[in-house]
Amino acid sequence: MIRKLTGDVTSFILDTKNTTYAFRVMESGQIEHLYYGRKIHVDDVTSLIEKHAFAPGNCNFYDDEHTNFTLEDVCLETSAYGKGDIREPMVEVVCKDGSTSLDFVYESDSITKGKEPFKTLPGSYDENNEVEHLTLTLRDKNEGFILELHYYVYEDENVITKSARFVNSSDNSVKLTRMLSQQLDINADKFVVTSFHGGWTKEMNKVDTPLNGGKYVNSSFTGTSSSRSNPFIFISRPETTENSGECYGFNLIYSGNHYEAVEVNSFHKTRISTGINPQNFTFDIAPGEDFEAPEAVLTYSYEGHNGMSQNLHAFVRKHIVRGEWRDKARPVLLNSWEASYFKFDEGSLVNLAKAGKEVGIELFVMDDGWFGTRNDDKQALGDWDCNMKKLPHGLEGLAKKINDLGLEFGIWVEPEMVNVNSDLYRTHPEWSMYIPGKAHSEGRNQRILDYSNPEVVDYMIEKMSSVFASANISYVKWDMNRTMTDIYSQYLDADHQLEVTHRYVCGVYRLMKALTEKFPHILFEGCAAGGNRFDLGALCYFPQIWGSDNTDAVCRLHIQNGYSYGYPLSTVGSHVSAVPNHQTLRNTPLDSRFAVASFGVLGYELNLNDANKEELEDIKSQIALYKQYRETLQKGKFYRRRADNIFEWTIVSQDQKTAVGMIMQQTVMPNDMYQTYTAVGLKEDAKYHFFGLTKKHDVRLFGDLINTAAPFHVKQGSLMHDIIAKFVKMDGETEDCTVYGDSLMYAGVKLKQSFVGTGYSDEVRFFPDFGSRLYFMEEMD
Ligand code: DGJ
Repeated sequence: MIRKLTGDVTSFILDTKNTTYAFRVMESGQIEHLYYGRKIHVDDVTSLIEKHAFAPGNCNFYDDEHTNFTLEDVCLETSAYGKGDIREPMVEVVCKDGSTSLDFVYESDSITKGKEPFKTLPGSYDENNEVEHLTLTLRDKNEGFILELHYYVYEDENVITKSARFVNSSDNSVKLTRMLSQQLDINADKFVVTSFHGGWTKEMNKVDTPLNGGKYVNSSFTGTSSSRSNPFIFISRPETTENSGECYGFNLIYSGNHYEAVEVNSFHKTRISTGINPQNFTFDIAPGEDFEAPEAVLTYSYEGHNGMSQNLHAFVRKHIVRGEWRDKARPVLLNSWEASYFKFDEGSLVNLAKAGKEVGIELFVMDDGWFGTRNDDKQALGDWDCNMKKLPHGLEGLAKKINDLGLEFGIWVEPEMVNVNSDLYRTHPEWSMYIPGKAHSEGRNQRILDYSNPEVVDYMIEKMSSVFASANISYVKWDMNRTMTDIYSQYLDADHQLEVTHRYVCGVYRLMKALTEKFPHILFEGCAAGGNRFDLGALCYFPQIWGSDNTDAVCRLHIQNGYSYGYPLSTVGSHVSAVPNHQTLRNTPLDSRFAVASFGVLGYELNLNDANKEELEDIKSQIALYKQYRETLQKGKFYRRRADNIFEWTIVSQDQKTAVGMIMQQTVMPNDMYQTYTAVGLKEDAKYHFFGLTKKHDVRLFGDLINTAAPFHVKQGSLMHDIIAKFVKMDGETEDCTVYGDSLMYAGVKLKQSFVGTGYSDEVRFFPDFGSRLYFMEEMD
């Protein structure tokens, strides 16, 4: 709810279910931020206003009428350089006279319901049009520019989104050199800033930085939101844990270069500024024209990191992800990439799909390699016509064969790229980004199409539409495999080259919007060499994103744990692949590969025709189990509990009747035999049936310990060893009990002792390196 309080002071109170955000108009016209935190009652803001009687030495007064404060020492809703505030500005403009000081003061406000879409960018939405919207209009005292600050209040999710619009209402063109989306000033310091970093196959490593002074910047300049630094950050108190303590989360609905600065000034105030990266950014704004900044997402929780994640998960599910796939069960897919890379033809694909059908796969996806002369990654990007040598019956014929098996059919595309060795490039070299006359630095042998040029966007809308309409396609994986270098558009003149990166993003959004609206039944999965564009902008079009090209279960633990802080795992594509893993050469058990992948949107990506009978049977049971718990796994509430040598996750259905838990170990600690699984998010007073899967283990996994039981000597790896393994299985432990929810959550379940070298029975948990267990909880009547 948004309230405007008037009287001596005009103030605004934005309440969500558990939070309050408050600010007021100062006597001098600036907007002073008063409070953001746990919900409080406010009908008079006097107690929230910081009292300033004298400005301290070596600071500047705003003007002669207000000598009692300096803007450097006020929490502000927006700020610019030039009038005393020396922290990160939100907006920077070079005026006609070359000056850069700005002086935005309050002019008017309005409170409305519903959310209008932005002109050029995606944004959050409310299907019931009930989100409340506050617009504050500020005007620059000297030049007359308008700065609108927008606030949207998502009450149930405890999320406030903010965006800003600059309008050049002067008579002169100006250069906008910085246009962030929001700033939040908190009257406190000593926060820990958490951001997520990495690269290809190593996305979302959580980095905690205590900040007691100076500035911490998280940003990308890859042209994408990037795997180097995801735009999601949070700040929390040093004492905050997963389940208790204060935490503020920030994200940006944007897929390009982003910027998040956390700055602590000498008055113990912390400013968090978020928006488009100002590096190499300058937009010419003609009189009457405007610039809209991407929407920023803010949340607050006093229930620790999990509390913040819960708010963001609910918000992303309901107000970012859209279309028919938002609530529909996502199919279990089989992707051809790690099964065959570029080497396939119609026959091999159909064989792979058949094997998939046998084990319960629902959707078959043909990855890269199906078009033009695409036999490797050096050619044909841009030539989106079916390779009739590989697929003699075309996409339509292949789709039909796959459909006839009872499977849906999906394809891979990379519409933002072109190889120099392609017909598209030969016809339109000027449609790609490079600087004429200067050598180009290549990435994966390909170049980026210039989506700042509307003609290129129009062409690709047509081309992709004809591909998607040419066969019964139910799924599209939309890849984007390189970052920007030699940024330059031949469509724009020299004066506008600093607009290219943002215009590119807007062009890509136009393409995504056109295609996702034209093909609402297609399930789109975003991808950018894995997670190089995992952000809320992409999620406005694609309900799920391929989280990483790394399918190793141990790496995925870290990667998915990282994503889970800001994104629901129903947005993270996650596959079971072959071992040794193609990225790490690590061998992990099939059970563990499944356990980790089932906490994302499950898929398989391996050559099932090379799998043995036992593996196929295991995979079949895995898929059946996943389908049984799909509703909980894809739509439930996810909680982290531990992420050290052992990872511990729980996902609970929205009605709290069903839950799935997982523990997975990285390396065995000898003589460390006891584990407790502790649930989160259940009903305290409900009784649950808690159980695990009782497995039989391959005797060969115990190596030559077989000789401690065998009546004759068995050489490890011998034919005899294999023969015995066929007939003798080691019984695994059973976990089965009835427990109250509070006991599961506060006491946990003491699990069976794990193997420690002094004996084995079905009372012992076989738990080697990379071992895992799934546990299920069902509320009893
Ligand atoms: C990168 C993706 O992340 C992979 O999954 C695969 O689709 C390849 N591109 C294909 O070129």
